[in-house]
Amino acid sequence: MKQETATVLEHDNFQGDYRILRLAAPTVGPLVVPGQFLHLQIPQLGDRILRRPFSIYKAGAEGVSILYKPVGRGTEAMKPLKAGDSVDIIGPLGNGYPQMTEGKIPVLVAGGYGNAALYLKARDLPIKGVAFFGGRTAQDILCIEEFKALGWDVRPTTNDGSLGVEGLVIDAFDPWMKDQNARDLELFVCGPNPMLKAMGDRAIEHDFTAWLSLDKNMACGVGACLTCVIKRKTADGWEWARCCKDGPIFESREIIWEEQV
Ligand SMILES: Cc1cc2nc3c(=O)[nH]c(=O)nc-3n(C[C@H](O)[C@H](O)[C@H](O)COP(=O)(O)OP(=O)(O)OC[C@H]3O[C@@H](n4cnc5c(N)ncnc54)[C@H](O)[C@@H]3O)c2cc1C
Ligand code: FES
Repeated sequence: MKQETATVLEHDNFQGDYRILRLAAPTVGPLVVPGQFLHLQIPQLGDRILRRPFSIYKAGAEGVSILYKPVGRGTEAMKPLKAGDSVDIIGPLGNGYPQMTEGKIPVLVAGGYGNAALYLKARDLPIKGVAFFGGRTAQDILCIEEFKALGWDVRPTTNDGSLGVEGLVIDAFDPWMKDQNARDLELFVCGPNPMLKAMGDRAIEHDFTAWLSLDKNMACGVGACLTCVIKRKTADGWEWARCCKDGPIFESREIIWEEQV
């Protein structure tokens, strides 16, 4: 984990309500593993000191990119950022997705910014399987062509039926899963917490592995304040686990869901 003053290289509309922010971050960039995030200080927020967490979409010679949707005070305040501006970042943070188990078939499941969070993992996985992506409309499903170009069999679902199967991700996943030997599957999931829980429930019921990237409010981002804790199962009960440092990625069997959906 490093702190760096990064220079904005690009800040533009990406798709639908999403924007892309690309930063020159030569200190943080080379350290990134798939599934990690940046904690970004928004200069326009002035004396409001809380940073905002964003999954790392891409990291390489071209810089470090995030895809974000303006949804509140912080992300709205990011809109005027322009090439040449400076942004203070801490990262890469979080544990990242683990290596895939040999002999398993990888499956991606994502919604919203989850597609961006899974891109580096999708690129690095040695086998390309099926990717189930959900959104309200076609505009909400990010980077489909990029995942296809990597070799993924992309199966979109939209609430309004404007792309792929009409409904939720599970409406495409469940019929597909019936024809598989579920135990062979290993899922990498990022999206809204109800989607994570739905996939986690299936993993437990059908005996496959599912790595779920949890979305929790974060304050410090580095494990110090305990804002982001969840209950994690242990051999003899449960313990607090910090999403920012012990997560955000947990295997489905670790998570006690009652308080975080
Ligand atoms: C690991 C992770 C990765 C993410 N990746 C992305 C991404 O790639 N793209 C994207 O668009 N969004 C992403 N998000 C969500 C993004 O951080 C939020 O959209 C953003 O925080 C909203 O900020 P805001 O100021 O616009 O909204 P606001 O609603 O104004 O503020 C929300 C912020 O306040 C803080 N906050 C709210 N309630 C509390 C509380 N009770 N205690 C402490 N702090 C609180 C949170 O830290 C949050 O950052 C991610 C979130 C997490 C946890
Ligand atoms: S946000 Fe402070 S401990 Fe996780």
